Amino acid sequence: MAERIIIEGGIPVRGEVQVSGAKNAALPLMAASLLAPGELALENIPDLVDVKTMIGLLEHLGVRCEQEKRLILDSSQADGWEAPYELVKTMRASVLVLGPLLARFGRAKVSQPGGCAIGARPINRHLAGLEAMGASVTLDHGYVVVESDGLVGAEVVFEAPTVTGTENLMMAAVLADGTTSLINAAREPEVVGLAEALNKMGARISGAGTGIITIEGTTTLSPVNYRVMPDRIETGTYLIAAGVTGGDVKVNGCVPSYHRALIERLEKANVRIEEGEDWLRAIGDNPVGAVDVRTDPYPGFPTDMQAQFMVLMTLSEGLCTITESIFEQRFMHVPELCRMGADITLSERRAVIRGVRKLSGAQVMATDLRASASLVLAGLAAGDGVTEISRVYHLDRGYESMVEKFSSLGARIWRASE
Ligand code: EPU
Repeated sequence: MAERIIIEGGIPVRGEVQVSGAKNAALPLMAASLLAPGELALENIPDLVDVKTMIGLLEHLGVRCEQEKRLILDSSQADGWEAPYELVKTMRASVLVLGPLLARFGRAKVSQPGGCAIGARPINRHLAGLEAMGASVTLDHGYVVVESDGLVGAEVVFEAPTVTGTENLMMAAVLADGTTSLINAAREPEVVGLAEALNKMGARISGAGTGIITIEGTTTLSPVNYRVMPDRIETGTYLIAAGVTGGDVKVNGCVPSYHRALIERLEKANVRIEEGEDWLRAIGDNPVGAVDVRTDPYPGFPTDMQAQFMVLMTLSEGLCTITESIFEQRFMHVPELCRMGADITLSERRAVIRGVRKLSGAQVMATDLRASASLVLAGLAAGDGVTEISRVYHLDRGYESMVEKFSSLGARIWRASE
């Protein structure tokens, strides 16, 4: 049954919270199980709908999936090569099986992802890279069919960085004949995590985390044990919760160095940040400072934090702009935030935010994962009235136990059936 989240806001959130494993690190690692027969064991897998969707896709491809404390993926008997429309339409990250399927079986058929709530999101850069490695690409009734008699190492120049494109190409190149260079590669920590896991499996990848990744192909890989890194976006969302409610939240189990761009903007906004080896603490204060932000590929300010940071800016004393440079339509949260009293005007990829100092509760609708998180933050901040968020299934795709975690920080938040 469809569910809503109800929030009685205005309470500063306080306490400690443990960050979960990263969705966007777990998904490519799960797809990498297709590269090596045997049992790949992943630790710290978050309990998320997207993870379940990826398990469904891998099972469809013949991978044995067992989830206890660790997620065991065994592709010894894998024989499928098709990612069907029903799965790709619910989760675009399904395209991550393209590179591994092609590398191991010489062919892959993946439903062509359509546009989504945040933009057109084509996969042309993934396909151009695979073509450069000798694969043939054909389009067939809404499916992309990629085939090869043996991938060969190549120089792939991305016209602009792509996270899953870099991951797909890295996974294709590990079993290719010869050396592949990925130029203008994505530098996100999740790409580094995948390279680290693949190297543990026997791959030879260097340069992950820089704009040039070099992969020397090898003939076989063997499965390993690997721990999924903490979720950067979940961490950032809880830090901002302290900022928007004037609270004090310590996020345990995170990697502070992943958060330089966010920390810099939070400090400018008058949110005090303390950090240790594996924790960050945010202490909110008044007045919130107005800070201009532009999203950029890592190490720039993450697009996945844009909606949440905007909530903080709606409460600021002043005027600022938020520019979205990654996705062309990632402002679906703006009209909903305005219904809660925010003053935001949009022109193309830029939002101009005039701080209103306080928000009020309203009935709002979630449109995508990070937009949903921003509505939760706005609801926590809104001291006047109750917030009811519908279509919360978006949140369940990417935030583990969010309602329980915010409750443990003292928020009045619960789920109700529609
Ligand atoms: N793009 C193309 N052609 C391509 C690939 C990308 O034009 O072949 C464009 C996209 O349309 C977008 C830009 O390039 O405008 C960057 O997209 P990218 O490929 O980097 O995004 P992604 O790999 O599809 C991942 C995350 C997203 C996150 C973006 C940007 C995963 C599974 N997803 O998507 O996460 O926003 O990188 O950092 O890693 C989320 O978790 O809420 C989420 C949307």
